[in-house]
Order: sequence, then C-alpha cells, then structure tokens
Amino acid sequence: MRAVRITVTGGPEVLTVTDVPEPEPGPGQVLVAVEAAGVNYVDTYLRSGTYPQPLPAPVGSEGAGRVLRAGEGVEGFEPGLLVAWKQAPGSCAERVLVDAAELVPVPDGVDARTAAAVLLQGLTAHYLATSTHPVAPGEHVLVHAAAGGVGLLLTQLVRLRGGRVLATTSTPEKAELARAAGAEEVVAYADAARRARERTGGRGVDVVYDGVGRATFDDSLAALRPRGLLALYGASSGPVPPFDLQRLNAAGSLFVTRPSLAAHTADRAELLARTSELFARVADGSLRVRVGGTYPLEEVRRAHEDLEGRRTTGKLLLLP
Ligand SMILES: NC(=O)c1ccc[n+]([C@@H]2O[C@H](COP(=O)([O-])OP(=O)(O)OC[C@H]3O[C@@H](n4cnc5c(N)ncnc54)[C@H](OP(=O)(O)O)[C@@H]3O)[C@@H](O)[C@H]2O)c1
Repeated sequence: MRAVRITVTGGPEVLTVTDVPEPEPGPGQVLVAVEAAGVNYVDTYLRSGTYPQPLPAPVGSEGAGRVLRAGEGVEGFEPGLLVAWKQAPGSCAERVLVDAAELVPVPDGVDARTAAAVLLQGLTAHYLATSTHPVAPGEHVLVHAAAGGVGLLLTQLVRLRGGRVLATTSTPEKAELARAAGAEEVVAYADAARRARERTGGRGVDVVYDGVGRATFDDSLAALRPRGLLALYGASSGPVPPFDLQRLNAAGSLFVTRPSLAAHTADRAELLARTSELFARVADGSLRVRVGGTYPLEEVRRAHEDLEGRRTTGKLLLLP
C-alpha cells in the first residue's frame, strides 16, 4: 500500500510516498481503508522537527474510511462501517491501523470527506468554545486566523453560543469567509487590539482564541479586558518565546492557557459526546464544513507548502 513517510525532518521536500506492507491489526486495533485523510498544522510541526519524534515516521493523524478488519478484543466495528479518527499515526496512507478507542462511527447524513474534515479541527473548536472558555451570549471574542480550518469552525461555534466575534485574516477573500461564518467584524492582524478596545468601550474582549502564536501573542494580551482569558492553542507563526508572568498582573489579572485536544478527549465518553454534537450540527446544517483543498496522496508536499504559505482556507484533505 502507499503511505507518506519521513526519514529526516525538514521542509515539505522530506515527505515521500512509498510502498509499505499492509499492517495487521493487533489486539484493540482496527485496520481501515482511508477515504480521506486530514491535513493539520501539527503535521508540519512533526515534519519540521518542531515537535520531536522517532524517525523514520509515518505522516498524518486524522481521517475517515471504512473498516476492513479488527484485531482481537474489538467489538462494534464490523467490516464496511464508516468511521473517523483524529489520532492514528500514518493516516496519510491507503490504509491505517487505528486504536479502537480512537474510532468514532460516522452517522448517516455525514459523508467520509466531511467527517475527515471536521473531526480534529471541529473537536478543537468545540472544546475551546465550550470548555476552555464556555462562551456566554453577548460576550466579545477575538478569533485569529478565522478563515483557517479551526478558525471557520470556531467562529461558527462561538456565534451559535451567542458570542460576538471580532476576527483577523490576512486577505479580503479570507475576511469574506470569516464574515460568512458569523464574524461581526474582520480586521487585519495589526488592527486587532485597537478594534477589540474600540468595540468594547475601551474595556477589551472577554476571550482571545489564538492559534497563530508568536506573531499575535502580544496583541492578543493587549486586546483583553481585565481578568480576560487568552487561549493560546497553536503556533502557526512560530512558538511564543519565554514569558514574564508578571505581565499578566500588570495587564489586569489576565489568564493564559495553552490547551491540547488530547487533554479534552482522553476520556472516551467525552470524545463521543463532543463528536456526536459536532456530527449532529453538521447533519442539521447549523455547522458548515469548508473543504478548501483536496490533493491526491502524491501531492502531499504541495498541501504542506500551501498550508504553511497561508494560501489555504478551511480544511485540506488528502485523497489516497
Ligand atoms: N491545541 C490544539 O488542541 C490544536 C488542535 C488543532 C490545531 N491547533 C492549532 O491551531 C492552529 C490552526 O490550525 P489549522 O490546522 O486550522 O491551520 P489553519 O488555521 O488552517 O492555517 C493556519 C493559518 O494561520 C494563519 N497564519 C498567521 N500567521 C501565519 C504564519 N506566519 N504562517 C502560517 N500561517 C499563519 C494563516 O491565516 P491568514 O492567512 O488569515 O493569516 C493560515 O492560513 C495551528 O496553530 C494548530 O497547531 C491546535
């Protein structure tokens, strides 16, 4: 079977599509035929070495497809069942082994591409808007990179909870997408902190969702009201350098958190509850999933280049 691998860390050129033997499911595992694999920013951190891992390494963690066969002790995942997952190393491949504990059945009304497109970024948006800071009606929220994969879903979920979204994007085309997702106002990154204050009578927004990191961190703090929360959930512009905690005191008792999806889905009941809410919203049309680009497996390098080059919107999928 064909699978994407890296043997060294580096730029997109280190991604190679190779023939590897089809794996056999061990106890607790399920072999799945991948119909669509999600491309996520974390794939670029692993590829470049920002997140170290043993090499050689398989690429990709998310996807959707049909069960081929299950290993010992697995129940409820019959061959042919449509399933999705967010954490199975090597998902950028024709077939992948997934731990049964990570698999979620995809309900009728949601197709494989949509399931692969919504799972990782949708669960992230879900825990950010419901757990990291349960957005309340009327609250002011700043969402950075609002036309991105997480950003478009997060903007919609904040709106569905009654929050008022000020969004940032880098281009007018992306701004249009953010507006269509429910942002009240979309500005350039350089204007975010100022507009956050102007829109709130000088006070600042209640929460900032920041997946951009180094480039936006200072402005994110400057946009907050006293005792507001910065949810720093990613680093698409690079990691935030070490930080003097005293700044939180001086800026009005601010909170900063650096949350992970793993910590919000480690419990299977929590994973299933969040996923079923997401799928229900997708099926009833209240959450729209934008697939901004699809690529054959052979073009995985181009997918990473486009993502890191800020040329993408919504979700990117690899189609094996
Ligand atoms: N903690 C978690 O649980 C978790 C889970 C999933 C994702 N994440 C993080 O969430 C962030 C978004 O992930 P995603 O997969 O949805 O990606 P994405 O938002 O679709 O793509 C990244 C976007 O960030 C913006 N950006 C701003 N400065 C950038 C720069 N210097 N280089 C590249 N992009 C820049 C770009 O939008 P503009 O062109 O509009 O600026 C770009 O399109 C990433 O940091 C990712 O690591 C965290």
